[in-house]
Amino acid sequence: MNSPDFLQLHQIDDRALAAEAAAGLLAASAQVSPKFFYDPLGSRLFDAITETAEYYPTRTEAAILARHGGAIAQAALEAAGPSPALVDLGAGNCAKAARLFGSFAPRHYVAVDISVEFLRQSLQCLQREFPSMRMTGIGLDFSSRLALPEGVVAGPAVVFYPGSSIGNFDPAQAQRLLVQTREAAAGGALLIGVDLVKPVEVLEAAYDDALGITAAFNLNLLNHLNRLLGADFRLREWQHLAVYDEAHARIEMHLEARRSLTVNWSGAQRRYAAGERIHTENSYKWTVAGFEALLRSAGFARVRHWCDDAGWFGVFLASG
Ligand code: AVI
Repeated sequence: MNSPDFLQLHQIDDRALAAEAAAGLLAASAQVSPKFFYDPLGSRLFDAITETAEYYPTRTEAAILARHGGAIAQAALEAAGPSPALVDLGAGNCAKAARLFGSFAPRHYVAVDISVEFLRQSLQCLQREFPSMRMTGIGLDFSSRLALPEGVVAGPAVVFYPGSSIGNFDPAQAQRLLVQTREAAAGGALLIGVDLVKPVEVLEAAYDDALGITAAFNLNLLNHLNRLLGADFRLREWQHLAVYDEAHARIEMHLEARRSLTVNWSGAQRRYAAGERIHTENSYKWTVAGFEALLRSAGFARVRHWCDDAGWFGVFLASG
């Protein structure tokens, strides 16, 4: 039986993270990167969001992959050749990629996430199920730059980027990342899940569920900042907002001050007026034509896609 290899390429630097968060809080229009959602509780809240009735992307993508899995695998293997390497971006518990193992039969599974510690247990379990498959876990912040170390992946790969996480990048950043996924695929293909434009009520409900789980996910970012910066945010003084901006085709999440207040942290403070907001996330929605054009502008020559019947979510396969 093989055993997984692990490579940690990204060094988590709490001081740099604190400086980045503080600069965002002090900006005229306060903003904090969505990466600050994902402390241990935030990651669990995100998993809970995917189970709410309103948050359709995760289950819709899974249904598309289940329904069209045979055609998708055939097209991907035509592009990348038989038994390709499968590079899983934002792999987490590796469950989504593992569902492709039967049809893709990858020779090498490369799971990428910000920390190998998120991957260790899942890869060790998967290795017991698939003892002859080579498995590598890579700790890499691919949101800044996706560059796999030379020699880790030999030959064409299928790069798998599910969950519409591409939507958390603005179009220019998304294009840059797609160029890098094309390089990482080395002549293979990109398989990517993308949330599509749809009626505003459906979108806003997905980011403001009735159980308040997305609200808790957004507010928990303040707990994370309290720990990281030694700040004194009081969560009850803030409320969750999710609004669809049609002009930019994006859901925006904000935290809004319920009253005028001051937040302090080591060596700094900021006064927020009642109603002032901290912008915490953008989640861009694409049309099929718009995302195809983005893929082509990133250098992909061939693009196919599969959607659910309502046209709410798209799975795109890009190659060439
Ligand atoms: C991770 N990402 C694709 C999610 C999204 O839909 O933009 C994050 C999320 N934010 C609120 N709900 C889910």
